[in-house]
Amino acid sequence: MDRRQFTGSVAGAFVGAVLSRSPIAPFAPRPMRRAAIDANRLNTNIKALSAFGANPQGGVSRVAYSDFDKAGRAYVMDLMRTAGLDARVDFAGNIVGRRSGSDATLKPIMFGSHIDSVPDGGNFDGTVGSLSAIEVAQSLAESRMRTRHPIEVVVWANEEGGLYGSRVVSGQLKAAELDNRAWSGKTIAEGMTFLGGAPSRVSEARRQRGDIAAYLELHIEQGGTLEREAVNIGVVEGIVGIRRWDVTVSGVQNHAGTTPMDQRHDAMLAAARFVEMVNRVVRAEPGRQVGTVGRLEAFPGAPNVIPGRVVCTLEVRDVDATKTQRIFDAIAGEAKQIGEANGTTMAFRAVHEDIPALSDPAIRSIITDVAKELKLTTRHMPSGAGHDAQSMAQLGPMGMIFIPSIGGISHSPREFSTAIDIERGARVLMAAVLKADTLA
Ligand code: GLV
Ligand code: MN
Ligand code: MN
Repeated sequence: MDRRQFTGSVAGAFVGAVLSRSPIAPFAPRPMRRAAIDANRLNTNIKALSAFGANPQGGVSRVAYSDFDKAGRAYVMDLMRTAGLDARVDFAGNIVGRRSGSDATLKPIMFGSHIDSVPDGGNFDGTVGSLSAIEVAQSLAESRMRTRHPIEVVVWANEEGGLYGSRVVSGQLKAAELDNRAWSGKTIAEGMTFLGGAPSRVSEARRQRGDIAAYLELHIEQGGTLEREAVNIGVVEGIVGIRRWDVTVSGVQNHAGTTPMDQRHDAMLAAARFVEMVNRVVRAEPGRQVGTVGRLEAFPGAPNVIPGRVVCTLEVRDVDATKTQRIFDAIAGEAKQIGEANGTTMAFRAVHEDIPALSDPAIRSIITDVAKELKLTTRHMPSGAGHDAQSMAQLGPMGMIFIPSIGGISHSPREFSTAIDIERGARVLMAAVLKADTLA
C-alpha cells in the first residue's frame, strides 16, 4: 500500500501499519502489521525510572545535573537504543534519539519531555512524556513501521530549572545564563559538561525556525481540571510565560535585644510585607495570572540578630507578556513604599524568562481528532506550567497532550496519574505522530 494512502484511522488501540515498511522486512507481500503501545512495558519503565533519586516520601529528588539525573539518563538512553533510536547527547546535554524516515527531504517530527525533577518532586512530571515517547518509537520499531519523516525522541536537559536544554536549541538562552546556579549546586555550564555536553559549543546545538516538521509533548496536567470534569485528554491551547527575579532586601543588621522596635531597619519584616503584597497585587485584577515567592533566606540567620539582608525569589506567570510586565511594575512600585516605611531597600535582578507560546491549530486538530477516533473525550485548555514545548514553538508547529493528574497535585511526591490514563496519553501521542507524518 502506498504510504500516501494513509487515512489517519486509529481505531481501537491500534494504528494500521500503512506507512512504508522498513528494509528489514524480507518478504513481500506481508500481513499488515499494527503498532500498539505496550502499556505494561510503559508503566514498568516509569516505575523503574522512579528508583533513580527515589525520596522517602515516595517521589523523586532527581534535580538536573545531579548524580541521580545522570544515572536516570543512562537508563533512558539504553531504552532508546533498544527502541532502535540512534541516541546521542547534544552540546546542551539534551538526549536526542533519531530514526531516519523514508523521505530524506523531510524535517524531523520531534516528541519527548524531560526526566529531571524539582527538589522533592513526583514520579510523573516529565517522566510520562519521555517514556511514552520512547514507547512510541519502540512499538513502531517492533511493527517495522517506518515513518516518512525522521523521528527524534528528545529528553530535554534541566527543564525544571528553566527550560535550559530546549532554550539552547531554540536560540533563546543568553550566554550569561550559563553562570546561573542550578539546584544541584553546579552552574549551568558545569552541569552541561557533567551530562556530556559542551557549554562553549552550545551554539552548534541550536536549530532554526523550520528545522522541525512538528513538536509534540505528552505531559500530566498538573492541575485538577481533567479529573474534576472526567475528561480523558487535554489539548493545550497555549503555555504561560514565566519571569523570575532574585530580590535582595537590604536593611541594617543589629542586636535583637538592644535595638528598640521603632529603630529597626529589619530586612525580614520588609520581606514579610513583600510576600503579602505580591499575593495581593497579583490577585487585584481578574485572570489566571499567578505570582509566587518560593524561596526566602535571611542573613545572617540567627535568633538574636535582626536580619540585615534577605534574599528571595519572585516568579510571575501569565499567557500575556504585557500583563506580566504590568504586574511586575506594580510590585516594584509597592516594594519601594515598603522599603521607605522601615528604612530598607529592595533590588530586583531579572534571572529568567520563558516566553508564552500558543500551540499550532493544525496540531491541536490532529490531537483532538485522533483522541476522538480512540473514543477518548477531550477538552481544550491552557497550561499554567512551563514546558519545553514553548521553546520548540519558536521552531515549528507545536502541540501538547495532557492527561489527568489525580487531585491536581504536582511538584510533590504525591503527584499521581493512573496507568490507564498514561496508556491513553501514549496512544494519543502515537496516533498524533503518525497523523502528523502524513502532512508535508
Ligand atoms: C515547570 O514544571 C514549571 O512550570 O515550573
Ligand atoms: Mn514537566
Ligand atoms: Mn515540573
